[in-house]
Amino acid sequence: MIPRLPPVLIWRGGSGGALCLLDQTLLPHRVRYCVCRTAEDAREAIRRLAVRGAPAIGCAAAYAMVLGLRRSKAHGRDGLRRAAETLSARVRSSRPTAVNLGWAVERVRAAVSRSGTGTAAAAAAVALREAHAIMQEERARCEAIGRAGARLLRNGSNVLTHCNAGALATPGLGTALAPIYLAARRGRRLHVWVDETRPVLQGARLTMWELMRARVPATLVTDSMAACLMRAGRVDLVLVGADRIAANGDTANKIGTYGVALLARAHGIPVYVAAPASTFDLAIPAGNRIPIEERPENEITAPGGHRWAPAGARAFNPAFDVTPANLITAFITDRGILFPPYPTSIRNALKNKTG
Ligand code: MRU
Repeated sequence: MIPRLPPVLIWRGGSGGALCLLDQTLLPHRVRYCVCRTAEDAREAIRRLAVRGAPAIGCAAAYAMVLGLRRSKAHGRDGLRRAAETLSARVRSSRPTAVNLGWAVERVRAAVSRSGTGTAAAAAAVALREAHAIMQEERARCEAIGRAGARLLRNGSNVLTHCNAGALATPGLGTALAPIYLAARRGRRLHVWVDETRPVLQGARLTMWELMRARVPATLVTDSMAACLMRAGRVDLVLVGADRIAANGDTANKIGTYGVALLARAHGIPVYVAAPASTFDLAIPAGNRIPIEERPENEITAPGGHRWAPAGARAFNPAFDVTPANLITAFITDRGILFPPYPTSIRNALKNKTG
């Protein structure tokens, strides 16, 4: 964990307990938890970005399964198996792009199905054990990403990052920020350029907050400043996270990542994508098959409830874009650093993804 940073998710109690989520819509001004007692509460928290970032969404979704199963009216082995299936489809629909969500929910569903339990209480207990396991594994994956990626950071490196792929996006150190934290811990002097990340400002609100708390030197820039920083030689590498990586390496991440990667290519700057095994989707051959979430227009026309655009103005708000694999220098994963050709390196590294 990062010192001085509150945990993103806490499960309180046994299988009758509650999921407490650090409400990221209120950061950096207020540190407050929202308490989810039903699967619908958790689904809504994921949808409104109270919890966000692919690995953290996956963990929240796993706990949403516990909340849903314990209230299930289903009886018997087959009844509970069907209930888990229906619930998993409902939880998955909260946000479509981050594959961690579907992956985590599927793990819980399969564990319940395998257990063959016939009561809601027993199914919830099985689901809770699986959710805790997912959370612990994701935390360990962040550490492994940090160790693999820290080697790429030299003393004096200037890193540009987009969105928030730090401790606030995972149950651990983060993905893109994990190498930065570990390198800083080893005494390396680093500086991070933080893209503010329109439209909901995960960079300005969240990445700046966590880097400042961790005492890592960071400077906030608007998304449109990346080109001039690169041209001036002030960026040594780009380090971002991912929401879903197709089998060929095409990568969905926060809207704007593709633009940053194109700019980096034009200036000869390496682009690294940091992600755990849970973010790779080998069932999708290429990026054009990744579902892209479209969010409400008012995130652009009236951010934070303050209307900027004229009443009635239309807006287009895709939450993610896809960076083609050929713009990515390497993937930093919990299974090591993967280089092109990605179809081969990804397939070899991800042979037993679920484990
Ligand atoms: O819409 P968000 O805030 O969930 O988007 C998050 C990102 O795009 C992150 O870069 C990605 O999920 C990786 S988080 C370790």
